[in-house]
Amino acid sequence: MIKVVRGMRDLFGTELATWHRVERVIRQMADAYGYREFRTPIVEHTELFKRGVGEGSDIVGKEMYTFDDRGGDSLTLRPEMTAPIVRAAIEHNLVRHQPTSRLWYYGPLFRYERPQKGRYRQFHQFGAELLGSAQPEADAEIILLAWETLRMLGITSVALELNTLGTAASRQAYRDALVEYLQDRKEHLSEDSQRRLQLNPLRILDSKDPADKAITDGAPLLRDHLDVDSQEHFATVRLLLDAAGVPYTVNDRLVRGLDYYSHTVFEITTTDLGSQNAVCGGGRYDPLFAMLGGQETPAVGFSIGVERLVLLLEQLEGGFPPEPPAEVFVVALSDDARLPAQLLAIRLRRAGFTVLSDLQRRSGKAQLKEAAKEGVRWALLLGTDELADETVVVRRMHDGSQTNVGHSELESFLRA
Ligand code: HAM
Repeated sequence: MIKVVRGMRDLFGTELATWHRVERVIRQMADAYGYREFRTPIVEHTELFKRGVGEGSDIVGKEMYTFDDRGGDSLTLRPEMTAPIVRAAIEHNLVRHQPTSRLWYYGPLFRYERPQKGRYRQFHQFGAELLGSAQPEADAEIILLAWETLRMLGITSVALELNTLGTAASRQAYRDALVEYLQDRKEHLSEDSQRRLQLNPLRILDSKDPADKAITDGAPLLRDHLDVDSQEHFATVRLLLDAAGVPYTVNDRLVRGLDYYSHTVFEITTTDLGSQNAVCGGGRYDPLFAMLGGQETPAVGFSIGVERLVLLLEQLEGGFPPEPPAEVFVVALSDDARLPAQLLAIRLRRAGFTVLSDLQRRSGKAQLKEAAKEGVRWALLLGTDELADETVVVRRMHDGSQTNVGHSELESFLRA
C-alpha cells in the first residue's frame, strides 16, 4: 500500500475545521493591521536560501529538499518564506514604489527534519514582513501583530522572549570575543558546537547540551558589546511593548538559527507542546536585501507555525465539529421521483443554496439517514403524490416538523 510521505500529513474532518478557523482569524488580523497578502512559488532557486538563510544554518546545512530539474537547474522546496518575499520585493521593486510595504503570507514549507509531535517535513506558516522601515516602531508593530493573532485565537498559554543582536559592527565585536572565550574551552564543547565555532558561533548560546550550557554560562554577553544605537533601538521596542501591555522576558541566549538577523529577535513559546515549543519566530533582518543583491532595505517580520497553533487549539478546546457541508438534502421517495429530485437540487444550487442529493438510488429511509448524518437543516421529500400536486414536503431536521410547500414558493420558504 502506498502511504503518505513520512513527516507529511493529510488534513480532513474535525482537524480541518480548526484549520479553517485559524485561517479566518489570520486573514482578519492581517487585514486589521493593513497588510497585503503575497504569494510566491513553492519552489525557488537553491541559491536563494544558500545566500539568504546562510550556509551555516541547520536549514541549509541539512534540511532542504533540493533537486535538479530536467534542465539541470538546482531548485529547492522553500524551507521558509522570508528569503522568497525579499527576492520578490527586489524583483518587483516593491519598496521603491512604496517606502513601507506590509506583506503577509500563508502556505506550506518543507524541511527535512526528524518528525515528531509538532514537527513535520511539510508544515505551514502564517507570517508577516514589514519592509522599508528601520525604526523600532516597526519591530513593535510586527511583534504585536503576532501576539494579538494568538490572543484573538484564544491562545494565552504562551510567552514572548526578546533579545537584540545589535548592528553588524557590534555583533562582529561580540562574535570575536565569544570565539576567543570558547576557543580556550573547545574540547569540552559538544561535537555540534565545535563545528559551529567557526561557522555560526552565536548559535552555541542556544545549545540544549548541558556541557555547552555550563560553558556558555560564563561567556561574554552580547548585551555588553552593543553600541548606543543598538541599545536605543532595543529600548524603544521595549517601551512600546510595555505601553501596549505585552508581557515579555529578555533572553540573552536567544540568537535564532538563520543568518539574516540584526537588532531585535524574538520567539513566542508554549509549555503545552512538549519539546517543539516554539509557536512563532521572527526579528529584524536589515542585512538580507543586500545579501540577495538588492538595495539595502531595513525589514522586520515573523512566522507562526500553523500546525502548532492547531495542536494548541485542539488541546484547549477539543477541536470543533466540521461545519455541515450543506443546508438541504433532496430525498427521492419513489423511483419516479429520482430524476425530478436531481432537477430540484440543480435548481436550488443555482438559487444559491448548498444542496446534497442521493447518488446511490437508495430507499427514502436510507436517504433520510444520510441527511441526518450530514447535519443538513432541511430534507426535501419528493414522492409520487408531491410530483402530482407540484409540492415538496419540507422536513425541519432538528425537530422533525413537516410542511407541504408548493414548488414556486420553495425558495422563499427556505429563506424565511
Ligand atoms: P523559524 O523559527 O525557522 O523562522 O520558523 C518559525 C516557526 O515555524 C517556528 O516557530 C515553528 O512554529 C514553525 N516551524 C518551523 N519548523 C517547523 C516544522 N518542521 N514543523 C512544524 N512547524 C515548524 C522562520 O521561518 C523565519 N522566516 C521567521 C521570520 C520571518 N523572520 C523574519 N521574518
